[in-house]
Amino acid sequence: MEENALEQNDIEVVLDRELRPSTWDEYIGQEQIKQNLHILLSAAKERNHSPEHILFYGPPGLGKTTLAHLVAKEVGANLKVTSGPAIEKVGDLASVLTNLLPGDILFIDEIHRLNKAIEEVLYPAMESGVLDIIIGKGPSARTIQLDLPPFTLIAATTRVALVSSPLRSRFSGGVHQLEFYTDEEISKIINRSAKVLGIALTRESAMEIAKRSRYTPRTANYFLKRIRDYAQVHKKDIAPPLVHEALELLGIDHKGLTGADRRLLETVATKFNGGPVGLNSIAAALSEDQVTIEEFNEPYLIQIGFLDRTNRGRILTPHAYEHLGLEVPVNRTLL
Ligand SMILES: Nc1ncnc2c1ncn2[C@@H]1O[C@H](COP(=O)(O)OP(=O)(O)OP(=O)(O)O)[C@@H](O)[C@H]1O
Ligand SMILES: [Mg+2]
Repeated sequence: MEENALEQNDIEVVLDRELRPSTWDEYIGQEQIKQNLHILLSAAKERNHSPEHILFYGPPGLGKTTLAHLVAKEVGANLKVTSGPAIEKVGDLASVLTNLLPGDILFIDEIHRLNKAIEEVLYPAMESGVLDIIIGKGPSARTIQLDLPPFTLIAATTRVALVSSPLRSRFSGGVHQLEFYTDEEISKIINRSAKVLGIALTRESAMEIAKRSRYTPRTANYFLKRIRDYAQVHKKDIAPPLVHEALELLGIDHKGLTGADRRLLETVATKFNGGPVGLNSIAAALSEDQVTIEEFNEPYLIQIGFLDRTNRGRILTPHAYEHLGLEVPVNRTLL
């Protein structure tokens, strides 16, 4: 079983890569970011310079990694990929940086997970292209400075609040927030993915999938693949009723909420009288990880106006009660 699951995962990874847009035209939406990048990259090219460092942030699956790949392709540079958790020691970062070739692009995913000591090594590297290495300990310790080849750092994070402001301010090429996509944009992405995968899909079906995709391309592509499987097994064509059936089987409702989303809302409604309640209490009641709730569930629930994040805690809105088929408690003032 375990092995099957692994194999399945590998297939997903391959398909994700297969579905990753390789041109700016295929990268739907995020127009403002694309325009800003176009200016940054064109100007750098004219000056024959590496582009300045860029930070992308926003919820998972909105296209941050894809943008990093597109920038590298546009610049014609090599993309070296690493991540915050993979860089455990100062030496790990030093080794990554000293192995860069002139003009390389270094992509650090989950940059919020870099520890402080490592961040401090990154500052001079980003600002002045040098690496300060301390050799020895105590009074005899001395610093040597290595010149690094010119490079561009592209970083991504789902949690920009955890990126310290000194680090944030060093992304002089731009700090860009990825927005949720419109249903129309998601529907375009689904149509393109269907073409790539050789799936016959009507406009209506694409829109049906889009409406439940949480405004997120990765979710849309995932649903498309699951719906294809469902259609294949049932030997039917993909049409809106089949889309409904397949997604229902996955526990996805007409708003795109998963079972976990609904449990979260129900818990706040029934155990905490609709809030305000702290994230830690919700997580404890659900036996769920706080980070998962904050990164995966909440952004969408907030976006569709089911949940409010206030400084006193999370609050359920009347829309959420309505969706759950529950009465709004009378003894409660909603903000
Ligand atoms: N603008 C877009 N147009 C078309 N497809 C997109 C777009 N953005 C993302 N995708 C698709 O969604 C998938 C997920 O995108 P990507 O891996 O870039 O997200 P991410 O923001 O890096 O997510 P995470 O935070 O989980 O790393 C990609 O494989 C790609 O197929
Ligand atoms: Mg990514």
